[in-house]
Amino acid sequence: MAVILDGKALALEIRAQIKTTVGKLVEKYHVVPHLAVILIGEDPASQSYVKGKEAACQKAGIKSTVIQKPVTISEAELLTIIAELNADTAVHGILLQLPIPKHLDPDKIIALIDKHKDVDGFTPENVAALTNGRPRLVPCTPLGIIKLLKKYEIPIAGKHCVIIGRSTIVGKPMAALLLKENGTITICHTKTTNLPAITNQADILVVATGQPKMINGTHVKDGAVVIDVGISKIDGVICGDVDYESVYPKSAFITPVPGGVGPLTIACLLENCIKCYQTFMEGNHD
Ligand code: GUN
Repeated sequence: MAVILDGKALALEIRAQIKTTVGKLVEKYHVVPHLAVILIGEDPASQSYVKGKEAACQKAGIKSTVIQKPVTISEAELLTIIAELNADTAVHGILLQLPIPKHLDPDKIIALIDKHKDVDGFTPENVAALTNGRPRLVPCTPLGIIKLLKKYEIPIAGKHCVIIGRSTIVGKPMAALLLKENGTITICHTKTTNLPAITNQADILVVATGQPKMINGTHVKDGAVVIDVGISKIDGVICGDVDYESVYPKSAFITPVPGGVGPLTIACLLENCIKCYQTFMEGNHD
C-alpha cells in the first residue's frame, strides 16, 4: 500500500509559516510585500491559476496586483510594463503567467525581468545559478517537490530519479535540484525510445508531460516514489499524468491529483516572493 504524499497539508503548513514571517517583517519594515502578476489573454487555466495565486497572497498578507492585457499586446508594450515593474521600488516580485501568445518570445521577455524580482526563477541568471549548483530563486514546482520528498524523509542521494518532460518550468530545474541532492538523473522526453524500460528503473519518478494518465502500472517498478505534476480534466474529472488506480498499488509513495504537487507550487511562490522582499529590504543586492 502506497503512502499518499499530502502536498496540500504541507502547503498549508508552509503558508502558515509564511504568514507569520510576513507579519513580523511588515512590523519591522512598515512595507507590505508586493507581487505583480502579468496575465495575457483569456486562457481559462491561466486565469484560474492567477486567481489561486492572488487568493494565496491575500491570505499570507502579501499584496498582489494583476496586470491583465489582451492577447494582442505588442512586445514593445510588454517590455515597457516589465521595465516599469523592475524600476518600481514598491514591487518586490514579478510573475509573467505562462504560456504567453505565440507572437511573443518568452525567453527574450523573461530575460528582462530583474533577477532579484524573479519569483519564478526563470531568468537566465537564476537558471545559471541553479545549474551551477548554487541556487538563488528556484522554480516553484520543482522546489515544492523537493520539500515534499524531504518532509516524508524520502532519500534522494544515490537514487535513480527519472523525470518525464524537459520543460524549463519543471523538467530541467527538477533535474538540477535532484542532482544537487546527489540523485542519479535521467530525463525522458518526446523523442525518448522505449520509455517503459527507463521508467521501470526509477526509484523516484517525476511525471510532467501534460498528457493525462500517460503513465500506468506497467511503467512503474514496485516500491517506486511517484510524483505527478500533471493536472487535466477528463469528462469533467480532474486527473494527473499518472493513472492513479494502476500505479497506486505498485508504488511506495504517490502524490494525488488534486492535492499533491499543485498546492506546493503556490506555497513556494509565496516563499520566493518573501525571499525577493527580504533581499530588497536588507539591501543585499549584488
Ligand atoms: N504556467 C504554468 N506553470 C507556471 C509557473 O510555475 N509560472 C508561471 N509564470 N507560469 C506558469
